Amino acid sequence: MPEENIVHKGLEGVTVSETKVGFVDGEAGRLVYRGYNIEDLVENATYEEVSFLLINGYLPNKKELDGYCSALNRAGRLPAEIVDFIAASAEAYPTSVLRTAISYLGQMDDASVKPDFSQQREIAIGLIGKIPSLVATIQRARNGEKYIEPSPDLSVAGNILYQSSGKKPDKKIGRVMDVCLMLHADHGSNASTFSSMVTISTLSDMYSAVTAAVSTLKGPLHGGANEMALKMIKDAQRSGDAAAFISDKLSKKEKIMGFGHRVYKVYDPRARILKNYAREATASEGREILFKTAQIIEDTMISKLGSKGIFPNVDFYSGMVYESLGFRPEMFTSLFAASRITGWSARSLEYLADNKLFRPRSSYVGERGPLTFVPLAKRTG
Ligand code: SDX
Repeated sequence: MPEENIVHKGLEGVTVSETKVGFVDGEAGRLVYRGYNIEDLVENATYEEVSFLLINGYLPNKKELDGYCSALNRAGRLPAEIVDFIAASAEAYPTSVLRTAISYLGQMDDASVKPDFSQQREIAIGLIGKIPSLVATIQRARNGEKYIEPSPDLSVAGNILYQSSGKKPDKKIGRVMDVCLMLHADHGSNASTFSSMVTISTLSDMYSAVTAAVSTLKGPLHGGANEMALKMIKDAQRSGDAAAFISDKLSKKEKIMGFGHRVYKVYDPRARILKNYAREATASEGREILFKTAQIIEDTMISKLGSKGIFPNVDFYSGMVYESLGFRPEMFTSLFAASRITGWSARSLEYLADNKLFRPRSSYVGERGPLTFVPLAKRTG
């Protein structure tokens, strides 16, 4: 069969680029950012260090980190037009508002018309600072509350919590948000990252690439799963028999949100870390029953589908943690984007440095003809 007729549905098993940014070992359940195990980073680093590492390829020294933190903090101050747009969109779906706000920022920046490499990099770092601020402002607008500028004495994690709630978080809570950001920062050639790379490969600008990425993240097979997973856990709890609830869904061939992964055929290491935070958060809020329900769902899924390599993914436990931090379910996918902007940027910039336009083929299975053209007046039926 000619090579162009071999279809790799969903690009499964196809390698599209070389990368030094990060590595997902789907057999061993290992996630590596630039050579560092995710567990080590979560234990010892901050999101800003991880973001610098993913973008630049090495851990920053103190001076570099201070400079990076200041740049992100400055970028987090939003233009009045964007604040007004978000306020006017308070009723709209948050991920859609975020997508449009990023596109709007691009329209406001002349550098987006024909950016050179260093402008693309500047735009990316600007967006790493801006997206968390946009997300916090979207949540605030939904509560009918006004925009708060990022505080210079807080981290990205601290500011997301401060700018959305109006209260400066204590260290422990701030650290939970920081861990969430680190865990979501990058993950191989996932659909939204690939989307950003396809867009940048046309030499379009980074705002456009990130707008495409947010659009792709929104889907329930990808970043939209976290919101739906928490809803399902709550529905299962209300049903009174979580195991039967899940078995019933499986018998109807429904997909269980927060389970399964294209690359991991074992437990997602991020889900393992988030599970511990979810356990702690629900215990301190007296909501142990929610965690117990999730555990029953996990046990049921692993006993039924574990042999097929289906385990919890990052989206299963993240919603419980985000909810404990004060975010509504419809904000969860935007929170994912607030961190994944680092991976989108790192991989798009890496690709752009040695660019080749993405242009796969499709295997044509339609009529080859040539058919005889029938003029409009003579077409019947
Ligand atoms: C993310 O790629 C990344 O890295 C993504 C991500 C990141 O950080 O960027 O990790 C974030 O997107 C996590 C995934 C979030 N999505 C969900 O939780 C939605 C539910 N999961 C699935 O729909 C599914 O597992 C996917 C989409 C994530 C992956 O699917 P694939 O690789 O396309 O596999 P498939 O859908 O073809 O399923 C293969 C088999 C099927 O059974 P058979 O037809 O072979 O009998 O596994 C079954 C599926 O029915 N299956 C599931 C299931 N996931 C797969 N059955 C029930 N529930 C599930 N969740």
